[in-house]
Amino acid sequence: MNSFRYNLIGVLSFFIAVFLSTFLFAQNKLMKPDIEQKVDSVLALMTLDEKIGQLNQHNGSWDFTGPVPEDNEYAEARAQLLKNGGVGSLLNVVGAEATYEAQKLAVENSRLGIPLIFGFDVIHGFKTIFPIPLGEAASWDLNAVEQSARVAAIEASAAGINWTFAPMVDVGRDARWGRVMEGSGEDPYLGSKMAVARVQGFQTSDLSQPTSILATAKHFAGYAFSESGRDYNTVDVGKNTLLNIILPPFEALAKSGVGTFMNSFNDLNGIPANGDYYLQRTILKEGWGFNGFIISDWGSIRQMINHGYSKDLKQAAYHAITSGNDMDMESEAYQTYLKELVESGEVDISIVDEAVRRVLRVKFLLGLFDDPYQYSDTEREEQNIYTNEHRAIARDVAKRSIVLLKNDQDQLPLAASTPKIAVIGHLANDKDSPLGNWRGRGESNSAVSLLEGIETAVGSNVEVTFSEGYTLSVDNGAFSRGLTFPEDDGSGFEEAINNAKDADVVIMVIGEKALQTGEGRSQVDISLKGRQLELFKKVSAVNDNVITVLMAGRPIVEPELYEEASALLYTWHLGSEAGNAIADVIFGKYNPSGKLPISIPRDVGQIPIYYNFRSPGRPAPGPGDDGSVFWSHFNDIQNSPQFIFGYGLSYTDFEYSNIKVSKKSISMNETLELTVDVKNTGSVAGEEVVQFYIRDHFASAMRPIKELKGFEKVMINAGETKKITFSINWETLAFYAADEKFKAEPGMFSLMVGTNSNDVQQVEIELTK
Ligand code: NOJ
Repeated sequence: MNSFRYNLIGVLSFFIAVFLSTFLFAQNKLMKPDIEQKVDSVLALMTLDEKIGQLNQHNGSWDFTGPVPEDNEYAEARAQLLKNGGVGSLLNVVGAEATYEAQKLAVENSRLGIPLIFGFDVIHGFKTIFPIPLGEAASWDLNAVEQSARVAAIEASAAGINWTFAPMVDVGRDARWGRVMEGSGEDPYLGSKMAVARVQGFQTSDLSQPTSILATAKHFAGYAFSESGRDYNTVDVGKNTLLNIILPPFEALAKSGVGTFMNSFNDLNGIPANGDYYLQRTILKEGWGFNGFIISDWGSIRQMINHGYSKDLKQAAYHAITSGNDMDMESEAYQTYLKELVESGEVDISIVDEAVRRVLRVKFLLGLFDDPYQYSDTEREEQNIYTNEHRAIARDVAKRSIVLLKNDQDQLPLAASTPKIAVIGHLANDKDSPLGNWRGRGESNSAVSLLEGIETAVGSNVEVTFSEGYTLSVDNGAFSRGLTFPEDDGSGFEEAINNAKDADVVIMVIGEKALQTGEGRSQVDISLKGRQLELFKKVSAVNDNVITVLMAGRPIVEPELYEEASALLYTWHLGSEAGNAIADVIFGKYNPSGKLPISIPRDVGQIPIYYNFRSPGRPAPGPGDDGSVFWSHFNDIQNSPQFIFGYGLSYTDFEYSNIKVSKKSISMNETLELTVDVKNTGSVAGEEVVQFYIRDHFASAMRPIKELKGFEKVMINAGETKKITFSINWETLAFYAADEKFKAEPGMFSLMVGTNSNDVQQVEIELTK
């Protein structure tokens, strides 16, 4: 290893970073002069061991609420580490009492009494569970999303947690990847807006408040682009995609003051992300002036050995720290080797100091030096978690996240007085799956099932029957390990079909269980599992009033279902109040307003499929397409997805007209306004997500055929018309160009407005120098 060169680069880049951060001082919410002074004074007191201690995060696998068990050497060793100041943060230690005890070990025993930060995956709620992030993104409702994160922060902070590993802002184009449920879908603009709203909800504008918790922008970077959608797999992407698709949500968060970043398990173009100097130092710390700290993912420093990048754990520690990874989550690489690396001169102490400074800064910002126990408040824990108020907010966010995909015969909304309703499907009575994959401290089987939601919504005059119909088992990796898992023997079909025959309407619930998506749950077959489709067809054959509810953590590929269903709601995994929220939509208490944040493919072979693609030289359809085979198409399927990004219906209709621009041409320092009239032509009030896209026709590096650049979710009464305005300046039209600089290039642009990414009206404008 060329340590001299790395050290030099490290030292130089540190000074550049200091210079840039001073330069960016005004915008940077994490830099406060009084705190900087305090950080310096603590740092000056620290020994090398104490410094390294701050860079370790350990899993809280032992119980702090009582004395450490005497015969447990492992627990004793870890408690000793805490007492010596050898740990900077714990993860998965949850609860006011447990965090209090752990904090006490660190604060009262270590020489400098530096407090710990407590991290936990609060991804879509703490105990009151909200929709999975992909579902929340379907709401296109920034207030709702911020509120969801706010409630999660209030609950988590009452249980001692002051750091969540969220939001995951990986732009995802591949529904095979199980973690697509944890992001905001395929678009960098929507993803950035969602990310900023979530961080605002978690951190608020004052991190020192006892209900504010640190957020994490993760996974930096490229994780969702793992080849073939297989989790943790290799990632190879070009600069155009990296800079314009993958990085924008991270940049938005760095600039809006997120406190921490987590790097990712994958390699990016041959360099493991947590050993990537370019990503962590050149782009994040130097380029964007990020002053918080970067944590590795679980064990990922050690995994650089498996990647074939580091020859041993010592070299992995070296690679991680020099390339900018500040804290080590559970690799014990820093704990074991950093001292040796510094003492041998391989790692300059200034690199360690920089990392420690970042960690201390965040601890000061959280107010932990003033009151290390402010998050460990048993009274707050008793009163502030899973309250009726929080559940009401969860229900509100959940109903906003539902997408109406079909309503061909206006079957929906359903009259609450419909005499006989047959509810069919294992998932209808499932109180666990709606909680989704990352359910924090949500209790198993605690969600309101759809069956319960329906029973509560209808009066006692309505007869509701239930039959499970199909069964669903979760594979969880059994298949790839050669094991078998139980198949549906069809024994529930008869009852379901009889109930369907007998009913005025059938509500059929199909989809995925919670743990069929999420980390480590990649699949090549993302159609409906088991015999769900078969039962759907049998039920549809005996009753032509079937309402289908599709509950899933990812886009499900099932063309026959999408063709045959006449009324179809996509409801994700909606959280604690799922059943009530879906019932609100089914019975018209809430007019659905969600829009897909990710395209639903017709076939898994189309993946990756996304609306913002670059035009091939032989587009089909496109100029010159003569219908011959020599155009960019499949021979066996259409190019378009089943349902495209931004798609979603309402119980009313919206008509777009009068699209106008205030100027046909602007220069780099001018602004123009785009206006459009949106009329509610139906008979009920409804919310519409008015979507604004651009196309840059010619550029130094090719641009997508459409890019989302704005949206507004607006309530419009029946018969009412609202004028919607979008402002456009050079920044709206800018991108990372061929020279990797963010700029707008003069030329012609289309501005498009519409109800989804396909149905748009457009005007042309010119950008001049
Ligand atoms: C691994 C996951 O990739 C990451 O997102 C999560 O925050 C950590 N485990 C901690 O649980």
